[in-house]
Amino acid sequence: MRAIVLTAHGGPEVLRISRAPDPIAGPEDVLVEVRAASVNRADLAQRQGHYPQPGPAPAHEIPGLDFAGTVCAVGPRALRHRVGDRVFGLLAGGGYAEKVAVHERMAMPTPPALSDEQAAALPEAYLTAFDALFAQAGLRPGEAVLVHAIGSGVGTAALQLGRWAGATVYGTARSADKCRRAEAMGAAFAVDMAAPGADFAAAVSAANAGRGVDVVLDLVGAGYLARNLAALAPRGRMVTLATVGGRHAELDLGVVMAKRVRLTGSGLRGRGIEEKIALSQAFERQALPAFGPPDGAVPARLWPVVDRVLPWTEAAEAHRVLEAGEAFGKVVLRVGG
Ligand SMILES: NC(=O)c1ccc[n+]([C@@H]2O[C@H](COP(=O)([O-])OP(=O)(O)OC[C@H]3O[C@@H](n4cnc5c(N)ncnc54)[C@H](OP(=O)(O)O)[C@@H]3O)[C@@H](O)[C@H]2O)c1
Repeated sequence: MRAIVLTAHGGPEVLRISRAPDPIAGPEDVLVEVRAASVNRADLAQRQGHYPQPGPAPAHEIPGLDFAGTVCAVGPRALRHRVGDRVFGLLAGGGYAEKVAVHERMAMPTPPALSDEQAAALPEAYLTAFDALFAQAGLRPGEAVLVHAIGSGVGTAALQLGRWAGATVYGTARSADKCRRAEAMGAAFAVDMAAPGADFAAAVSAANAGRGVDVVLDLVGAGYLARNLAALAPRGRMVTLATVGGRHAELDLGVVMAKRVRLTGSGLRGRGIEEKIALSQAFERQALPAFGPPDGAVPARLWPVVDRVLPWTEAAEAHRVLEAGEAFGKVVLRVGG
């Protein structure tokens, strides 16, 4: 098969389409002809040599945490899908390739309303947000959630899932344009952190009669920690998912105790297969039926936010776009051709 292989670690120019061995499907796996894969922040870190795929180093390092395509073979003990079925799902790596082999329970049926490009935008972004909001933070209807980097792939997914679950969603981004776009998607408001004097903690407190938010989904990191604590309501929960804004920060344990808040961290890629299967299947059961074109329905429907689709020959451009912060939502690669 052909795949986008990292010829070295470095800038977007190290992404090259070359030959790689076909993946070997195990007895419970399905082999999928990939039509689309999306680009995630983690791919940029992997390309730079900072975030290797878990497990033994593969002979060909192929980035890509998600895929969408068509089943082309099934293992002898795989019963869930047939050849020709459209499926999509999560990977620990290897998605920028013409073929992937995945456990049959990691492959979710692609809803007919979604194109392969749209389905490829879902797994990493939506499963991360779904797990963080509901399994980690226990977000409930009527609560308020603050989503940082709300214009990111994970951020736009969290905005949709939060609204779908009946929560009030606030956000932050580093541009007025991304803030307005998040508000157009249903955020109560988003704070432009590039504006002088921007203070999301004061803004969400003022909006909630001084109470703050029940949940903070932190896609930024250390630089926001003190203000996150200030923004949390008593018994609030914060889930840390990223360190783009720094890893090390001072923590006021007095505030942690006084507000009785819960601070949690979460990572998806390094989890074992059973945990990933459980998450994929929970998402498939609970959230996937809610996907459909936006039509003003209440509760809100879910629909992937795709900034742009590029042919995989333009993978370097796709990485550049994400790195430059130019995307709102997901950048997707059309694989093959
Ligand atoms: N822990 C996990 O399991 C997990 C899983 C998936 C993703 N993530 C993390 O979640 C984040 C979003 O992932 P993605 O793939 O959706 O990424 P993405 O679409 O590339 O978005 C990255 C976001 O990071 C923001 N950002 C970058 N540097 C920043 C800084 N110094 N200060 C504030 N914001 C900054 C950008 O904000 P602006 O739009 O405001 O410029 C951008 O929206 C990434 O950091 C990624 O590593 C974690």
